[in-house]
Amino acid sequence: MKVTVVGAGAVGASCAEYIAIKNFCSEVVLLDIKEGFAEGKAMDLMQTASLNGFDTKITGVTSDYSKTAGSDVAVITSGIPRKPGMTREELIGINAGIVKEVTENLVKYSPNVIIIVVSNPMDTMAYLVHKTSGLPKERIIGMGGALDSARFKYRLAEALGCPISDVDGMVIAAHSDKGMLPLMSKATRNGVPATDFLSKEQQNYVIEETKVGGATLTKLLGTSAWYAPGAAVSAIVQAIACDQKKMIPCSVMLNGEYGESDICMGVPVIIGKNGVEKIVNINLTDAEKAKFADSAKAVREVNGDLKF
Ligand SMILES: NC(=O)c1ccc[n+]([C@@H]2O[C@H](COP(=O)([O-])OP(=O)(O)OC[C@H]3O[C@@H](n4cnc5c(N)ncnc54)[C@H](O)[C@@H]3O)[C@@H](O)[C@H]2O)c1
Repeated sequence: MKVTVVGAGAVGASCAEYIAIKNFCSEVVLLDIKEGFAEGKAMDLMQTASLNGFDTKITGVTSDYSKTAGSDVAVITSGIPRKPGMTREELIGINAGIVKEVTENLVKYSPNVIIIVVSNPMDTMAYLVHKTSGLPKERIIGMGGALDSARFKYRLAEALGCPISDVDGMVIAAHSDKGMLPLMSKATRNGVPATDFLSKEQQNYVIEETKVGGATLTKLLGTSAWYAPGAAVSAIVQAIACDQKKMIPCSVMLNGEYGESDICMGVPVIIGKNGVEKIVNINLTDAEKAKFADSAKAVREVNGDLKF
């Protein structure tokens, strides 16, 4: 399995590191436009190989897409991250141009690639990749829900006072502060509904802290987070590489599912060797359905700013 990661910045390098440490992949190519940057990150990571016990070969290149040829999976993390006080949506102008150009280059050298879109505003960037790549819709996956769900589980475990391994939960809809939908109705502690243990006030706290999870970190760090985003991407790459058929909420092109069409939104999907193998339809409460529709409306407005 050959994986290309475009953008050797905070998220790209973290993603390459987690992929390598899990040792399921033969080759990772890091690509960046900053002269020598990806080469430096790749060399630094390779010098952890004997310490961390992995055999994945990581190489770095500056803008040379010929070195990405034959990639099975490509991750797009190139673009600018948000600064404190910014929304993900404010990044669209710069990132749309970058994502479009990167997509064209990737597909030129790897026509059967599966693309994982990370750059923000992610749901709109995933939509842009659909409109410009010519790839089948199963081969384009937006990463947002995997990260937001990890943040949801972190907050659930905190509120429940239990280990994170005890909890399960999922976040769907848009990857945005206002639009994401943490599914409290489906969250569990060892199979028991989390709502059995948490007061309404605690439930609201978990939901609200999950929604501003990225903004909280951006305020603390001065830029957006990278460890959990990198780990979330690597989990999706592993599900593809190992054909795990894992159910992960991802931003995918909807064609009537969840009442929406011609839009990328976070919904539970089965991820395996072919990319998106199935969109899973789960029952939502009427309130959740209404929130999903509102979230889609907001994503559509941002999509409207795209110029192809
Ligand atoms: N979807 C998510 O859950 C999620 C989570 C975290 C960050 N993000 C987004 O991921 C993106 C990257 O974040 P980061 O913190 O790694 O930023 P960063 O600034 O650390 O890294 C971005 C890298 O992209 C490179 N780059 C810019 N233009 C390029 C091009 N045309 N070709 C190749 N490389 C190019 C830059 O040189 C830089 O090294 C941002 O848009 C951020 O908002 C998304």
